[in-house]
Amino acid sequence: MKDDLNRIRHEYGNKELSKSNVSPDPFIQFQIWFKAALNENIPDVNAMTLATANSNGRPSARILLLKDFNEDGFCFFTNYESKKGNELLINPYGALVFFWPEMERQIRIEGKIAKLESDLSDAYFYQRPIGSRIAAAVSPQSQEITDRKSIIKKIDQFKVKNGDEFKRPDFWGGYRLIPDLFEFWQGRENRLNDRIEYTIGQNQWKLRCLAP
Ligand SMILES: Cc1cc2nc3c(=O)[nH]c(=O)nc-3n(C[C@H](O)[C@H](O)[C@H](O)COP(=O)(O)O)c2cc1C
Repeated sequence: MKDDLNRIRHEYGNKELSKSNVSPDPFIQFQIWFKAALNENIPDVNAMTLATANSNGRPSARILLLKDFNEDGFCFFTNYESKKGNELLINPYGALVFFWPEMERQIRIEGKIAKLESDLSDAYFYQRPIGSRIAAAVSPQSQEITDRKSIIKKIDQFKVKNGDEFKRPDFWGGYRLIPDLFEFWQGRENRLNDRIEYTIGQNQWKLRCLAP
């Protein structure tokens, strides 16, 4: 296994990233890179790792789908009573990571996380396919279940009781990460990768080059 891992050595190097070729606004820079990744037809281009931590500082991470982003932040949807939901309740900070290997690019985003306004959560919930809505309403995400069959049974019972017309459950909705740090990473030759970090201070983004 170790030999297999050691054999994996991919040389990066197509593109360049410097303070002079990025936008001074990290949201615009994100949009430029996201659009470029979309144009490359990268599968699950909106999949990102979200890291949270519990009250002891112990981290946990998982993949989620980015569902919206704008100057206000980066939005995703989940169960508020899941592991991540419980961690965010006591420690409302998180970190996102996007990795697009086809473009040799990584983006890290850190900041405070708050629940999305309920009208926005409603708007997203009601446009989901009915099957996904029912799954969200029925699954006690992150809790122990006996087996898959028990969830299927709950789904069948839910359908009989509620049909297609039911409200978004209070325990399911969106979050928004409000960034105070971005890092754009471009793979380069000999691991001398380019890294540009943005941090916010007095309502202004400050850019720094970081060592690879
Ligand atoms: C590609 C992919 C996309 C996912 N998207 C979501 C999502 O948008 N929302 C969500 O709650 N879980 C999503 N999941 C499942 C999560 O990774 C995770 O299993 C779940 O949210 C429970 O995490 P937790 O126990 O840490 O709270 C996705 C998983 C994968 C692999």
